[in-house]
Amino acid sequence: MAACQEQLKDRVVMVSGANRGIGLQVARCFQEAGCCLALGARDIEKLEKSGFTPSDRVLLSSYDALVPGSAEKWLEEIKKHFGRIGILVNNAGVYKKVSPESENEDDLDLMWQVNAKGPWKLTRAALPLLRQDGQGRIVNVLSLSARRVKSEGTTGYGMSKFAAMAHHQGVRLAGWDDGVRAIAVCPGFVATDMAVDVMGSMPDRASSPEAIARWIVNAVTMPNDAVVSELSINPNCEAFC
Ligand SMILES: NC(=O)c1ccc[n+]([C@@H]2O[C@H](COP(=O)([O-])OP(=O)(O)OC[C@H]3O[C@@H](n4cnc5c(N)ncnc54)[C@H](OP(=O)(O)O)[C@@H]3O)[C@@H](O)[C@H]2O)c1
Repeated sequence: MAACQEQLKDRVVMVSGANRGIGLQVARCFQEAGCCLALGARDIEKLEKSGFTPSDRVLLSSYDALVPGSAEKWLEEIKKHFGRIGILVNNAGVYKKVSPESENEDDLDLMWQVNAKGPWKLTRAALPLLRQDGQGRIVNVLSLSARRVKSEGTTGYGMSKFAAMAHHQGVRLAGWDDGVRAIAVCPGFVATDMAVDVMGSMPDRASSPEAIARWIVNAVTMPNDAVVSELSINPNCEAFC
């Protein structure tokens, strides 16, 4: 951990959906490792309530994947405040039940906007600064649902996460020559509000959001010539992806 902290000291980390769930733990873990934080959430007050105070090392910004120009505005604020970014964590996401026979196209469109287009827009806006870093990292928080569809109701969510996986693989190529490395993190059930949205109650033996955050922080410290591009993380309730 000491070597890890040395590598991360003063790096600027951008985290979307940092006010709760996995994003909150990721932000806390990077802060403990000595990073500067550029945190995005739909409601800045929620970030403050989660324990983050604005300072020269912590920038709190409004970010809503459904609002046109939101990604670009956040990046402008980061440029003014820090002038650099080392790590982008595309974490914000949404789950709605959509099966192959659902009539509700709005929910499918919502997941496309937030889960697939959200990371695409944030990455597009952040890539110039990540390229300048020489060891830029993009963590795409996807899901085992980016690899397989486990139940009819998760079909629409899986469609958005498979699309986000395609984006991830394209990003690996886009930043490669400038030392940008992209890491797809694919958890199964994680004990957050989203798991309750999926299951109706908190599933037994889910991964903890703290454990997912530790994986992410460790993964970004690997050197450019040894980065893991995709991590499947199995909770105790699922042995295979
Ligand atoms: N929990 C799981 O079982 C699980 C498993 C695999 C992958 N994941 C993925 O992990 C990531 C984090 O999920 P989580 O479990 O931490 O879920 P969560 O507790 O429900 O948190 C979701 C986060 O995304 C934000 N968000 C939702 N819609 C947004 C929008 N339009 N614009 C910007 N931010 C928005 C939420 O903000 P508000 O607070 O304002 O709503 C919140 O910060 C997601 O990408 C999810 O797909 C979760």
